[in-house]
Amino acid sequence: MKTRTMAPPLSRNKHLIRWVDKMAELTKPAAIHWVDGSQEENDTLCAQMVASGTFIKLNQDLWPGCFLARSDPSDVARVEDRTFICSLSKDSAGPTNNWVNPYEMRRKLKDLFNGAMQGRTMYVLPFSMGPICSPMSQIGVQLTDSPYVVVSMRIMARIGLPVFKVIDQDIKRVVPCMHSVGAPLAPGERDVPWPCNHEKYIVHFPETREIWSYGSGYGGNALLGKKCFALRIASNIARDEGWMAEHMLIVGIEDPQGEKTYLAAAFPSACGKTNLAMMIPPKGFEDWKVWTVGDDIAWIKPDENGQLRAINPEAGFFGVAPGTSEKTNPNAMATLSKNTIFTNVALTPEGGVWWEGMTDHLPTECLDWQGQRWTPQIAKETGAKAAHPNARFTAPASQCPTIDPSWEDPNGVPISAFIFGGRRATTTPLVYQAFNWSDGVYVGATMGSETTAAAAGAIGKVRRDPMAMLPFCGYHMGDYFRHWIKMQRRLSITPKIFHVNWFRKDAEGRFIWPGYGENMRVLKWIVDRSRSRAVGRETPIGWMPRYEDFDWNGLDFSKEKFEELQSFDPSAWRSELIGQEELFIDLHDHLPPEMVYERELLICRI
Ligand code: OXD
Ligand code: MN
Repeated sequence: MKTRTMAPPLSRNKHLIRWVDKMAELTKPAAIHWVDGSQEENDTLCAQMVASGTFIKLNQDLWPGCFLARSDPSDVARVEDRTFICSLSKDSAGPTNNWVNPYEMRRKLKDLFNGAMQGRTMYVLPFSMGPICSPMSQIGVQLTDSPYVVVSMRIMARIGLPVFKVIDQDIKRVVPCMHSVGAPLAPGERDVPWPCNHEKYIVHFPETREIWSYGSGYGGNALLGKKCFALRIASNIARDEGWMAEHMLIVGIEDPQGEKTYLAAAFPSACGKTNLAMMIPPKGFEDWKVWTVGDDIAWIKPDENGQLRAINPEAGFFGVAPGTSEKTNPNAMATLSKNTIFTNVALTPEGGVWWEGMTDHLPTECLDWQGQRWTPQIAKETGAKAAHPNARFTAPASQCPTIDPSWEDPNGVPISAFIFGGRRATTTPLVYQAFNWSDGVYVGATMGSETTAAAAGAIGKVRRDPMAMLPFCGYHMGDYFRHWIKMQRRLSITPKIFHVNWFRKDAEGRFIWPGYGENMRVLKWIVDRSRSRAVGRETPIGWMPRYEDFDWNGLDFSKEKFEELQSFDPSAWRSELIGQEELFIDLHDHLPPEMVYERELLICRI
């Protein structure tokens, strides 16, 4: 203990200093570093990580300010089965969360964290989710033994001295976030490039608003401002305070007259939220603009006039790399062209990065995400991927060419519509509008999607993912639906609610809809419906556009194909209703009556 290097604290807040001391007594780091957030500090940490092998510095002529990290092969995604909501009662966590008695969990964590940082530096990392001056933002302090986390959080959140200043004013509650990769170093022991532990615990205490994360250095498991705070803990705060913490992108759609309409959209992980948030309007829509406010999380609050306003609590994008290209998302490519941390992508011989889908031409050779030689021939023979399917880029939002001028507005942007969506090969049409708010909540609550690589586990099975919040709602999902229902009472302007599915396939298994920029045609109908100036046709599941209600300028798409895309098949919907019921059975004792009646109405209509 006596050998610990103690830099002076950068905060005067006694509670914070006492907590840091207490956690240092527990975890026994070799040094404590208070993070100021400066460029020099960042450069030093990056240089240290290059020296230790955690980072590879990319060719700076091609990729200025960019680094590559390769994770341990066992630490590549969020671990939902190791994620816990430890509320006082099991009933408050609900059946969709893993629950452990908080007293038992605290005992377990005390054991795990005891000496967990030995031989490492403990970083005291203050961060603000949301612009520091925003009344909607929230403050946290993450104690972590991972410099990779510090430099990643510098991109994903506002960190450092300005946040300590807010903490010193003692006006905002601070959420304590404990994080260790769980790999103490014995004296003289050599470190590995990506330390982690095979045992992982991602733990939330909703009542005391605390996060404890152990064993992983990856993404949502370790960058605690993101899923753990901005969704799981924030959903609890939002319910208590009358606002909403949602797994939603935020975009502004500007028409040729300069009228802007902001939409918030929820899709399960790796379903194209980043692409939608940065969309380039297609041929025929040259005078339209899509502005990016956020690509993953929205904090949404009614203002004094009963209008919902949203901020993006994050400051960067932690996007899925595979599939991102100049064709699919040129704005993301521009965003990640500098000052970006890549994780688990391939390294080219020129010192650049590559991933599946980045270019039409495959590199003749590269090092794959584990540092092994990879060639197109090897891929053909073994199926080996150059990049891990959940490889990521961590890039500053300010570098996005379409970043909205109001993206850091402390009061947020006004939300006119909500969109729910999933990845469904069958059953669900391209777009429909719910009949009203409670029907819209039902549509969001019963969302289903085929699973992707963003979470560990099977890929391609339909799973019910209410409002895309299944892994992120920090309390009972039935109570969450009730909160959504109740929110409307605080609004004088109720946003319209829509459902979209870009992924419907024809009988031959081909996507019917071209997607990407062409989704603008869907968004235009949504904007027009939200502003009560577009026609819709009533169907058993909601309002749908007719062929002539879309603007087809610049796209040759037949009426027959459109009707296939929008088709409503009663027998498929009867099976869908059974699928929807599975989740509702689990949640029945907390379901608001509106959900039960909306389901009955849907059954009657079908
Ligand atoms: C993400 C996720 O990383 O949803 O955004 O998994
Ligand atoms: Mn997400």
